[in-house]
Parts: sequence; structure tokens; C-alpha cells
Amino acid sequence: SMLEAAHEHDIELEGKDDSTDFLLILCGACEGSLACSTCHVIVMDVDYYNKLEDPTDEENDMLDLAFGLTETSRLGCQVI
Ligand code: FES
Repeated sequence: SMLEAAHEHDIELEGKDDSTDFLLILCGACEGSLACSTCHVIVMDVDYYNKLEDPTDEENDMLDLAFGLTETSRLGCQVI
């Protein structure tokens, strides 16, 4: 997932990283088990967002709890 890749590559998980198309907000507290929304990411490139698999109902439920939800928000642990 995006979250795992960010951890593996030591990508800064708080604040905007200008080298990527994503706004990474926080790290994943539940380690990808869809029990938090701290891995919330905002995909800055709409074309890229549209290429992603649609979020599941479970992801959408958790996204509803995310701070600063946008039209192109996803949970980083669910984006492959
Ligand atoms: Fe908790 Fe993604 S890490 S939902």
C-alpha cells in the first residue's frame, strides 16, 4: 500500500512533500486495518486519483471521520 511504501522509503508523513503528487497528513496508527483515519492522504493530481481503484464502503466510512476530507481524499493504507 501507499502507507507501507512511504514507511519503507522514509517519506515524510506529515505535511506536503513537493516531490510527490500526494499530501500526506499523518502516519497510520492502526497499521492498515481500517480502524483509524490517520493515514488520510489527499491526492493532488485529479487524473491520478481517477486512475485509482474506487474506495470500498469500509474505506469511505473511515474517510468520513478524517480531518480535512476533500474530493480526492483516500486512506493511504488502502491505495496500492
Ligand atoms: Fe488506519 Fe489506514 S492506517 S486506516
